[in-house]
Amino acid sequence: MRTIIEPFRIKSVEPLHWTTPAQREQILEQAGYNLFQIRASDILIDLLTDSGTSAMSTEQWAAMMRGDESYAGSESFYRFEQSVRALTGFRHVIPTHQGRAAERILFSILCQPGHVVPSNTHFDTTRANIEFNGARAVDLPVAAARDTQARVAFKGNLDVEALERLIQAEGADRIPLVMITVTNNSGGGQPVSMANIQAAREVTSRHRIPLYLDACRFAENAWFIKRDEPGYGDFTPREIAQRMFALADGCTFSAKKDAFANIGGFLCTNNSRLAEQETNLLILTEGFPTYGGLAGRDLEAVAVGLEEVLQPEYLEYRIASTAYLGRHIADRGVPIVEPPGGHAIYIDAARMLPHIQRAQFPGQALAVELYRHAGVRSVEIGSVMFGASAPHELLRLAIPRRVYTQSHVDYLVEAILEVNDRRESIRGFEIVSEPQFLRHFTARFRPVRA
Ligand code: F0G
Repeated sequence: MRTIIEPFRIKSVEPLHWTTPAQREQILEQAGYNLFQIRASDILIDLLTDSGTSAMSTEQWAAMMRGDESYAGSESFYRFEQSVRALTGFRHVIPTHQGRAAERILFSILCQPGHVVPSNTHFDTTRANIEFNGARAVDLPVAAARDTQARVAFKGNLDVEALERLIQAEGADRIPLVMITVTNNSGGGQPVSMANIQAAREVTSRHRIPLYLDACRFAENAWFIKRDEPGYGDFTPREIAQRMFALADGCTFSAKKDAFANIGGFLCTNNSRLAEQETNLLILTEGFPTYGGLAGRDLEAVAVGLEEVLQPEYLEYRIASTAYLGRHIADRGVPIVEPPGGHAIYIDAARMLPHIQRAQFPGQALAVELYRHAGVRSVEIGSVMFGASAPHELLRLAIPRRVYTQSHVDYLVEAILEVNDRRESIRGFEIVSEPQFLRHFTARFRPVRA
C-alpha cells in the first residue's frame, strides 16, 4: 500500500468554527489586521504555532490521571526523569514550565556581558534570553540557507567553518556554549545532519566549549536523518535521537513541541556543579526540583509523549503530511522555503508578492488575505516580527501535531492556491500603532490605499 495514513483514530472531537466573509472582514478590522488579536473561536484552521497545540493520546490522558501532585518527591517526577534520561542519557534532568524557562536559567548562569553564543539559528526566545544577560547571540547558518529556493538536504546545518573562525576571532573563553537548534525553526524548519552535529562536537571539544542542543523538534530531526543521511536508514528514530543527544553536553527542551504536551519543558546537563546552580535558580523562580513549575500530571504527559513521538509510523506520517502541503502548493507556483521542513511550511511572501515592497509587509498582507479568504490563521516571520533586520519575508504555516486530517490539508492547499491566483490584487499594510518591544503581538495595521 502506498497511502500514508494518520496513525491514529479519533475518540474525542472539537467542532470547527465557521465565519462568513462579511464577519471576517469585520473581525480583521477590529483586530487591527493583526491575527494575534483574533479570538480562537473566530478561526477555522489555526496554523499560528505547533507549540502546545498537540492532541494528546489516550495513553497520555490515562497517565495524567496517575499524576502524583506531591510537592516533593512526586512519583510523576521520577517517571518523567526516567523517560528523559532513557532518551537523552544526560545525568541531570531539571523540569521547567516551558522551553524559555530552561533557557533563562541556563543563560543567566553561563552568559555575561562580552560573551558570544553561536547557533545555527537562534529562536527568538533563546536570542532574547542571551541578550537579556548582556551576551551576543550570533547565527551561523550554512550559506544555502540564504536562498529559499535551494533544494538542499540538511539546510538547517551550522556553518562549522564559520564557527571555527568565530572562536579564533573572539577567543574560546568568551564563548560559554554553542547551541544547535534541531530542527532549525527560524531557518525554515530545516533539519540538521548527524555529520554536522559531529563536526560541531569536534570543534567545541577541541576548544573545551560545551555544546547544547535546543532540542524542541528532536524527533522530526531524527526522522530526516533516517530518511536522508547515508548510513542511518536502518536505525530506529530512538537510536538516532540518542546519538544526537550523546554528542551534546546538555540541552534545553520545550515539551510543547515533540512531546505532544500542552505545557512543559526541561534543562539537562552532565555537569554536576552547573546542575546545582541551575537547581538553586529553579527553586527561586520555577519551583521545587521535582516539579519545576509543572503539575505532576503535566510531567506524566511529557513522559508518555516522549515515547510516542519516536514511533516510526507517526514520524513517517508527520513528515509526509507537511511535505504534501508544501509540494502541492510549491509545484503549482507558490514559492515556499525549499525543501519542506518538519513542523511547518514557510511561504516566501516577498517572492510571491513582488509588487508589495518590504516596508509594506508582504508576509502580513498574505497572512491577512489567507484569513480573509479561508479563515486560516498563520504567522508572519519577516519585517513585522524582526524589523529591518529580517533576512526574509516569510509566512509560516505551522502544523499542530495529530490535530488536523488529510482533508484539512487539502482544504489548505485549495485555499492557498486560490489566494495565489489573485495575488496581484493583494495590497500592502502600514502600521498604525506599535509597542516598544515584540511589536508583532499587538501592533495595529491598516491597508495601504492603491
Ligand atoms: N526553541 C525553539 C526552537 C522554539 O521553536 C521555541 C518555541 C522555543 C525554543 C521556546 O519554547 O515556547 O516552550 O518557551 N517556539 C514556538 C513557535 C513558540 O511557535 O515556534 P517555549
